[in-house]
Amino acid sequence: MRLIFFGPPGAGKGTQAKRLEEMRGLKQLSTGDMLRAEIAANSAIGVDAKSYMDKGELVPDSVLVAMIEHCVKQPDCAKGFILDGFPRTIPQAEALDAMLARNSTPLDAVVEFQVDEEELFARVRNRAAQTRAEGKEVRSDDNEDVLKKRLDVYKAQTLPVLGYYQNKGMVRSVNGMKLVEDVSVDIDTLLGL
Ligand code: AP5
Ligand code: MG
Repeated sequence: MRLIFFGPPGAGKGTQAKRLEEMRGLKQLSTGDMLRAEIAANSAIGVDAKSYMDKGELVPDSVLVAMIEHCVKQPDCAKGFILDGFPRTIPQAEALDAMLARNSTPLDAVVEFQVDEEELFARVRNRAAQTRAEGKEVRSDDNEDVLKKRLDVYKAQTLPVLGYYQNKGMVRSVNGMKLVEDVSVDIDTLLGL
């Protein structure tokens, strides 16, 4: 099964993708996690990406498309994958369609997480506080100012991607305001798992 998890920052895409990876063997492909790994490794991609991510802006499409193109061909994606945080622009969506068509591996569904803005701020605040309490490094974009920017970018550049997949009849929506466990049950139900 090949899926896209779609929604604003803090909606719960990563939380639910990890669970589906553990339960069903679908590979989670989180572009945010991949970019943070590049930053940690101090690679050329990481150094460049950091300048965008710290401001809440999107990293250029060419970088992300190459990253995903490489990943979907790996053996650990053979049982399927969950794209978490990709595509985030129309050119990314078009590039994804083209690469999946070339490989004859079409998408099964786009799962849209619906969460109120107030709740997104609360979740990101909680995560920052929890991470700090554990003595770990807080994500450089997990603060109120950068989250505001991430939400503006989401509305301007990423929401059109939802319309793109709605036109193809592929979007299934979940109420992401529920408890983590209840969102999981709803996702399983809508995917027929
Ligand atoms: P990325 O890492 O993708 O961040 P994001 O999607 O903006 O935000 P999150 O990862 O915080 O949201 P999430 O939906 O995964 O929620 P989570 O499960 O973590 O991207 C970071 C940056 O990288 C971008 O700004 C951009 O610069 C760059 N980038 C990445 N992809 C790109 C692309 N394709 N193109 C260009 N640039 C790209 O949950 C959040 C918190 O809420 C957690 O603490 C969690 O425990 C909690 N939580 C989850 N579910 C619930 C629930 N149901 N109830 C209560 N709390 C919950
Ligand atoms: Mg995430």
